[in-house]
Amino acid sequence: MYNVDGTFHVTDNTCLHRGGPLGDGFLEGPLITCPRHGWQYDVPTGHNLGNRALRVKTYPVLVEDGKVRIRI
Ligand code: FES
Repeated sequence: MYNVDGTFHVTDNTCLHRGGPLGDGFLEGPLITCPRHGWQYDVPTGHNLGNRALRVKTYPVLVEDGKVRIRI
């Protein structure tokens, strides 16, 4: 789960390159950088920056009554 300027986003945790843990990566604005080899993904859409045909799965997030709910 990522917090981008106060908005929560959720993606699969597995990088499409060699399975790196995206949740251990580096978030800058809406971009998550995989800690293994540096592939980058746009968190809101899941698109890979180097190849827009690749996309990690994203999940809808709803914040309600102070609780964060994820539809999976
Ligand atoms: S495993 Fe993520 S960039 Fe290689």
